[in-house]
Amino acid sequence: MEVETSVNMEVDNSFNTEEGNDKKRETKQLESRSLLMPHLREYCPASNLAFNEHVNKLIAEGKKVYHFAFGQSPFPVLKSAQKSLGEHAWQSAYLPVAGLPELRARICNFHSKLDGLVHLQSDNVVVGPGSKELIFLLLHVFDGDVLILSPSWTTYKPQTLLAGKKAIEVSTKFEDNWKIKPKDLEKIIMENCVSPNRLLIFCNPDNPTGTCYSAEDLEALSVVLRKHNTIVLSDEIYARLHFDNNHISIAKVYPEGTILSSGISKWASAGGWRLGYSIYPSELKELNKAVCSAASHTYSCAPAPVQYAAVRLFCYEEDTMSYVLHCRRILAAVAKYCYKQLTSVGVKAVMPTSGFYIFPDFEILKPAFDRRGIETCTQMCEALFEETNVAVMAGGPAFLRPTHEFTVRLCYINFDGARALVGSEKFGVDEPLTDAFLHEYCLPVVEGIQAIKKWVVDHLEMKKPK
Ligand SMILES: Cc1ncc(COP(=O)(O)O)c(C=O)c1O
Repeated sequence: MEVETSVNMEVDNSFNTEEGNDKKRETKQLESRSLLMPHLREYCPASNLAFNEHVNKLIAEGKKVYHFAFGQSPFPVLKSAQKSLGEHAWQSAYLPVAGLPELRARICNFHSKLDGLVHLQSDNVVVGPGSKELIFLLLHVFDGDVLILSPSWTTYKPQTLLAGKKAIEVSTKFEDNWKIKPKDLEKIIMENCVSPNRLLIFCNPDNPTGTCYSAEDLEALSVVLRKHNTIVLSDEIYARLHFDNNHISIAKVYPEGTILSSGISKWASAGGWRLGYSIYPSELKELNKAVCSAASHTYSCAPAPVQYAAVRLFCYEEDTMSYVLHCRRILAAVAKYCYKQLTSVGVKAVMPTSGFYIFPDFEILKPAFDRRGIETCTQMCEALFEETNVAVMAGGPAFLRPTHEFTVRLCYINFDGARALVGSEKFGVDEPLTDAFLHEYCLPVVEGIQAIKKWVVDHLEMKKPK
């Protein structure tokens, strides 16, 4: 305590002189002047990560929360991959910037086998510490207009801004299952793009809507993309979780213009391992090389032990296939349950076809919200959290939606994935999982959805919620 006081005294004294007063003025000036780039003055932390930290803090303090606000796999990493990671812990040398050659070759085989993408070459694969980082570097080196769909994953626009570019938004509609119509894309390109180069960021299967594009959708889209010299960053990180195991990549119909982005965070449940990749077509070699240069000057390489262990995952052996099959069908059953229950009380939703998310719209409660003075989806989510302990992420600007639309992103992954996997294996693979299964293995989701349902019904019946 004494020491602290004497240090403070010393500091204070230095300000009691002429020189001290100058320092004081300079400090004041520094404090009042922003040191941030002008285009980043409104910049905020990733809203999903910040909210997750807040909810986890409340849970740690003992609050009961149905945590539907963060999209992280509930399942454990496959045992064989965990073992492989341990065995490679000694691999401490830097690896080539673009990634371990064997891993890059495996990644190509994997997409050739599962997506029918026979044109991929391992020289065109870049492995990095998460696909997020690689998308960010691409946004930095690309010279041209960036088009982003709305609703959008919460990261694309902030990354675009961070890269010093403006995001051109292309809105989709609930009535179209939140899928972009080629003619709408064409109109936006013609009316808003100023550069002859365009990059569309395309998430398929989509976060936050859970929607997927068919072969016909993609074919029609590719016509507009080719016509308007627009390349695509196709974020297919949820592809392996397609509930019918029927994912179709846009790289199949537009190989020369598609950069395929994926990783092990979702299907292999290894988000914290930080490994993702981009696969460039030979036609976009210039961008590929620039991203590798940027990688060499920023992160050097993805973690070596993780790259060796990932080789095991991309071999896609029997145990991996079975693991993915069970993860997929558990998620499919949970998604269907959420969709059925929410729509049964009038909430608008599109049935998800892959991944961890549903994007319901609580428009039906607008009259009740008017009576309560709830005007925005953030206010709605605050009331929902307060009154039901259900945490969901408000739609609104984070997802490029209007503030007054009552859409939310609900992540239906609040259950013990390890237990659910054992249950699904015991259940056998011939029959789809039942609601009884969900009550036994995914109870927090069931309870949370029932709580939302009751909240909706209470509002519709104009009862004052507890
Ligand atoms: C659509 C989408 N793309 C990319 C990522 C990030 O992936 P990675 O862990 O490979 O950086 C996520 C994670 O939430 C995501 O939802």
